[in-house]
Amino acid sequence: MQASILVIMIIFILPTLLLSSQNFPLSKPNCDDSCGDISIPFPFGTTKECYLAIQFWVTCNHTTTPPELFWWDTDIPIIDISLHGQVTLLQRIAKDCYANASRSLYIPTKLELTTFFTVNYTANKFTIVGCDAYALVSGDRLDRTFMTGCTSMCSSLDDLTVGSCAGVGCCQTPIPQNVSTVEIMVTSYSNYTGVSDFNTCGYAFVIQESAFNFSKENLTNLLGVTRLPAVVDWAIGNGTCEEAKRNTTTYACVSANSRCHKPTNGYGYRCYCQQGFEGNPYLSQGCTDVDECLNENLNHCNKHALCTNEVGYYRCTCRKNYDGDGMGDDGCKEKSPKDTKITYVMIGVASGIICLLLGIILLYLDLKRRSQNKMKRKYFLQNGGHMLQEKLATRETAPEMVTIFSSSELQKATDNFHDSMIIGRGGFGTVYKGVLADRRTVAIKRSIRVDSAQIEQFINEVVVLSQINHRNVVRLLGCCLETDVPLLVYEFINNGTLSSHLHNEAKKRVLDWNTRLKIATETAGVLSYLHSSASTPIIHRDVKSDNILLDHTLTAKVSDFGASRLVPVDLTQLSTMVQGTFGYLDPEYMQTNQLTEKSDVYSFGVVLLELFTGRRALSLDRPVEEKSLANYFLSVLKQDLLFEILDENIVGLENMEQISAVSKLAKECLNVRGEDRPSMKEVAMELEGLILGGKHSWARTNAHDEEETESLIRIDDRMSHFGDGDMSSSVGYDSISRDHILLPMNGGR
Ligand SMILES: *[C@@H]1O[C@H](CO)[C@@H](O)[C@H](O)[C@H]1NC(C)=O
Ligand SMILES: *[C@@H]1O[C@H](CO)[C@@H](O)[C@H](O)[C@H]1NC(C)=O
Ligand SMILES: *[C@@H]1O[C@H](CO)[C@@H](O)[C@H](O)[C@H]1NC(C)=O
Ligand SMILES: *[C@@H]1O[C@H](CO)[C@@H](O)[C@H](O)[C@H]1NC(C)=O
Ligand SMILES: *[C@@H]1O[C@H](CO)[C@@H](O)[C@H](O)[C@H]1NC(C)=O
Ligand SMILES: *[C@@H]1O[C@H](CO)[C@@H](O)[C@H](O)[C@H]1NC(C)=O
Ligand SMILES: *[C@@H]1O[C@H](CO)[C@@H](O)[C@H](O)[C@H]1NC(C)=O
Ligand SMILES: *[C@@H]1O[C@H](CO)[C@@H](O)[C@H](O)[C@H]1NC(C)=O
Ligand SMILES: *[C@@H]1O[C@H](CO)[C@@H](O)[C@H](O)[C@H]1NC(C)=O
Repeated sequence: MQASILVIMIIFILPTLLLSSQNFPLSKPNCDDSCGDISIPFPFGTTKECYLAIQFWVTCNHTTTPPELFWWDTDIPIIDISLHGQVTLLQRIAKDCYANASRSLYIPTKLELTTFFTVNYTANKFTIVGCDAYALVSGDRLDRTFMTGCTSMCSSLDDLTVGSCAGVGCCQTPIPQNVSTVEIMVTSYSNYTGVSDFNTCGYAFVIQESAFNFSKENLTNLLGVTRLPAVVDWAIGNGTCEEAKRNTTTYACVSANSRCHKPTNGYGYRCYCQQGFEGNPYLSQGCTDVDECLNENLNHCNKHALCTNEVGYYRCTCRKNYDGDGMGDDGCKEKSPKDTKITYVMIGVASGIICLLLGIILLYLDLKRRSQNKMKRKYFLQNGGHMLQEKLATRETAPEMVTIFSSSELQKATDNFHDSMIIGRGGFGTVYKGVLADRRTVAIKRSIRVDSAQIEQFINEVVVLSQINHRNVVRLLGCCLETDVPLLVYEFINNGTLSSHLHNEAKKRVLDWNTRLKIATETAGVLSYLHSSASTPIIHRDVKSDNILLDHTLTAKVSDFGASRLVPVDLTQLSTMVQGTFGYLDPEYMQTNQLTEKSDVYSFGVVLLELFTGRRALSLDRPVEEKSLANYFLSVLKQDLLFEILDENIVGLENMEQISAVSKLAKECLNVRGEDRPSMKEVAMELEGLILGGKHSWARTNAHDEEETESLIRIDDRMSHFGDGDMSSSVGYDSISRDHILLPMNGGR
């Protein structure tokens, strides 16, 4: 039921739509738009109301069947009027006939066109037919005259060629441009005397070229023809488009979407509908949209495309499963359904993977951050951070003396512990130079692992050292416990170690005797302070020239308390593992493991020797008897040859007395038995006295030379087990890498 209604609609409505879309109005309302089969588009019209100007007047004679259309009220029939600017009319032909060599018929013709009309020079040809004929065509051309002609001869019918008008029986010539009046006359050279048996007439006419195909019969059958079609161009007015547009009341291109165009032939202008429109541009609303989609020739849509008409143009859209711009033969390409599916799947999978990765990365970062924090906390506790905090909290001393740094703070300061920031390496770890956020330059010591049993002592040392505020001690600024090994932060001393000065030829000269004496005095002062003045006595345990730093004024700064021990006040000696540096190590301590303050005195004695001999405490490249400086010194002293081992840089008459006093002091310090050695306080006072020019106030005889030598030799024996003998470790705060030993408790027994 519904289907049949649809079919009916399609059958009846569609053709009307098609018709109406093609049947745009041609003429003004209430005007004849056709005469029989011939349409009469405006500006042509049959009445005054229907034409634009009198030139476009046409008449239709309805008495004949079919009705005939005439130009004006003349007898010139019109067979076609085109909106593109042409009128095809039937024009008389000129004839010239002979009988018995005398003219029997002569018809000249004349076509007078008004302004607005010119003979179409492309579609027409001036043509003459005959075997003894010539013709002239003349007329007006832009208000001047013109004349041209053609000659056609032949002597036999066999000469003629069908379709060819090249002068044999038929001759054609073009019409010039801008011709408005045509006058044609045809005549003969010899009254057809030689050809009269097959041709006695000549014919001349302007004809639409396409309407004429010469054949032999035309020599005779044209006699019965009076009119032949000719194409005439028409245009509006006699001015250009620009001139015409100036007067809007007379401008003929009145329709929307119309444009003005100047023809190449004759005066005036023509109107056209713009592309995409069709209709009569001379009528208002005359140009209507062309529905290109209804005619396959008008659109270039691909056969797989959908055509959509728009006002003035059209659109081609490829149908489902096709891709492309829709135009032309290649406009639509078939989409591979597999491909599209695969593309979607791939996009889905890819975005899924990306999301997953993102999630994993975020999770990983979060876990890492958490574990890092956990590790920091763990290290902090493992390194005794809790203990340290408690101690600092309970102490009455100012807590700002030791700062607990965060690991990130120190990482930033040392460029994440970059190798270029290393200023020293030693048995206790690595020393980095660092610059804190407040631009303070510091030295950061990364200690060796602290075992859990020693943590409490480590903490104690940190606490105590942080309280030592002596101008000749490298100050501990703080520490960091958040890393696997504790980090200690010291003030930065920029001039290297005493050792590096003494064992470098150039630097050695800078250190004159007075400076050396000053350094000795300062160092002795520090040790004396540690032993007695500090609240809990501290034994440094590793006094050596490597651990005495010099600042820019060559002021001594004692460093490296890594091996130091706190000695409870009620104890005068402490049983520990033997620890120290060969060459400086107290022989008594080595044998008994009993650590006392006097061990520092022994080591200091060796430093004194270094100061006035300029030799190393231990020189493995020297002869056996000279290897240990202490040993060698004592033997030299016994032979009274002290002068031979003095550093030549300090030898001078004015110094000799002081040098000799210091050497005596050193000898006392190197006594094998600790209790025979002076205390650090006594040593310091003695040295101060020397500086002040006073006599040394302290002197003791030494009765233990034999014993002393014996033990020193024993050390030398032990030393030979130690490798390469490169003792030149020089830089830094802690240069005890190779010459530092740890002996088990009771090892000497
Ligand atoms: C129309 O044509 C007929 C026959 O050719 C003629 O008699 C008549 O006068 C014509 N009418 C007009 C108005 O020209
Ligand atoms: C032409 O000449 C022929 C004989 O030569 C004659 O029979 C004929 O009538 C003439 N025709 C005319 C129109 O004079
Ligand atoms: C041709 O005919 C014309 C007029 O009929 C005449 O005057 C002329 O002499 C003729 N010419 C010849 C060559 O017969
Ligand atoms: C002219 O007519 C001949 C034969 O009738 C034909 O072969 C030829 O194609 C025609 N030429 C044109 C241009 O129509
Ligand atoms: C020329 O002759 C042919 C063949 O008889 C004919 O069909 C044609 O109409 C003739 N041409 C003209 C213009 O009369
Ligand atoms: C154009 O036509 C007008 C009147 O129709 C006439 O006065 C004018 O002289 C013409 N101009 C030319 C150049 O023919
Ligand atoms: C336009 O043409 C009309 C009719 O020829 C005339 O009356 C009118 O004055 C013209 N207007 C202008 C501005 O030339
Ligand atoms: C002559 O007429 C033809 C159509 O028959 C047309 O295409 C052509 O443009 C016309 N020539 C001019 C100069 O208007
Ligand atoms: C024909 O007339 C038009 C308009 O006056 C002009 O532009 C063109 O040059 C003329 N053509 C020739 C060949 O004189």
